Amino acid sequence: MEKVVSLCKRRGFIFQSSEIYGGLNGFWDYGPLGAELKRNVKDLWWKSMTKMRDDVAGLDATIIMHPQIWKASGHVETFADPMVDCLLTKKRFRADQIEPQSGVAYFYTGAKDETRELPEPYSVLLAAGKPPESARKAAVQFYQERGMATPELLGERTEKIENTTRYNPENGSLLTEPKMFNLMFKTFVGATESEDSVAYLRPETAQAIFAQFKNVLDTSRQKVPFGIAQIGKAFRNEINPRNFTFRSREFEQMELEFFIKPGTDADWHQKWVAERLKWYETIGLPKEKLSVYEYKKEELAHYASACVDVMFAFPFGVQELEGIAARGNFDLSQHQKFSGKSMEYFDDETKEKYIPHVVEPSAGVDRICLALICAAYTEEEIAPGDVRIVMKFAPRIAPVKVAVFPLLRNKPPLVEKARQVFELLQSQFTTEWDDRGNIGKRYRYQDEQGTPWCVTVDFDTLGEKGPELLDTVTVRDRDTMQQDRVKITNLVPLIAGKLRGNK
Ligand code: GAP
Repeated sequence: MEKVVSLCKRRGFIFQSSEIYGGLNGFWDYGPLGAELKRNVKDLWWKSMTKMRDDVAGLDATIIMHPQIWKASGHVETFADPMVDCLLTKKRFRADQIEPQSGVAYFYTGAKDETRELPEPYSVLLAAGKPPESARKAAVQFYQERGMATPELLGERTEKIENTTRYNPENGSLLTEPKMFNLMFKTFVGATESEDSVAYLRPETAQAIFAQFKNVLDTSRQKVPFGIAQIGKAFRNEINPRNFTFRSREFEQMELEFFIKPGTDADWHQKWVAERLKWYETIGLPKEKLSVYEYKKEELAHYASACVDVMFAFPFGVQELEGIAARGNFDLSQHQKFSGKSMEYFDDETKEKYIPHVVEPSAGVDRICLALICAAYTEEEIAPGDVRIVMKFAPRIAPVKVAVFPLLRNKPPLVEKARQVFELLQSQFTTEWDDRGNIGKRYRYQDEQGTPWCVTVDFDTLGEKGPELLDTVTVRDRDTMQQDRVKITNLVPLIAGKLRGNK
């Protein structure tokens, strides 16, 4: 993973937010290549979810919405994670993410020094075989931090403990009792900062879709079954942002709420799982790195009838990219209850009235970008001791599609011709100009950013070897490194054809 993170920084895919001030944990910026990659992901999702379907309409709602939305959805009450702090280092953890540990726990009833006695219990968990001295050292540090100069430990006793999550996995220190922590970022709307003006940065894009269900239905002439799709920022004050961009505090979601007739839930859920898995392959995620996790009945929310997570094998483990849930009519019913506005749908054909059920495929843009970057990263030994790093993005997702080089930068006829080729391609594809260093270095540079094709204008292009090569260029393929001579007039159809044909 370090290699991927380092390439992201070095080549301008992803930077730490506010890096010049030391960064802000859980916030990331996308550099020039990352911005293109992210745009491609969102465009391809939008195209497949809305433009290529006549049963889905789009929405672009605000990030800050009426706070009642989050009461209705249950987020104010229950969108919380249990958090615990290390009693020694104050490091914060999500209690439910601590791996169970076993070992010998050293318990102390308190400590005393020359001036006083402190009856505050503390304990340390040691892995089997570790010397007791390290527990005592940690306990002394604990009581010193409570103001004792030279604490003498009191009431030491030991106990074998299995599968506990009460201790810091990094140093064995006891953790605080879990406290629930709401993940929504709060802000105030208007000039007064009071409880009445509290609003939230949305923790998901989905609720705006439910809140605008009736408006979209009335204006788009859609009929159940139909969906509303939205792409946008979401914010969660995660206790432990981690694994690079995987768990961030500001991220983007691509969500579809697909409204269906009650009773058709299982059928539509299966269709959407299959549809979404197909889409991941079209953007170039290898099939063998994708899997699904099917929720067991007892893992489902009380209103849900099914949920499947699309998983990806990241270097740090198999993790969720997208959740696809059959949520019944929970959300629309809640908004009907809280707003007093009917969310019922009248079926013209059957003359039935009902609150539609919903299937929700909900994906994270940042996680998909990270999966694409991890899957694309390749090191290839092309000659003994000569390793090239190449980002093997599927061409349709690659940030830059084609790069154009003049063979030499100090030969004006070459540069002029290459500029013409560049301008021709630039109007059709994301194209980059490069005239620095030698050709070999330029190829390696483009390989590292995953550019599928490099076009070189050389002296043959100018007709120096005869008229048959006049106005031809070389096109070098990123993956095979093979170069073909192509007429300039054939370049656009050739690249467009490759992009259409390729995943
Ligand atoms: N409306 C349903 C919903 O929001 P979720 O599983 O909490 O469900 C959906 O989030 C997707 O959003 C996840 O599968 C993931 O891709 C992305 N996501 C959630 N939390 C994230 C975070 N802290 N950082 C990056 N992506 C996140």
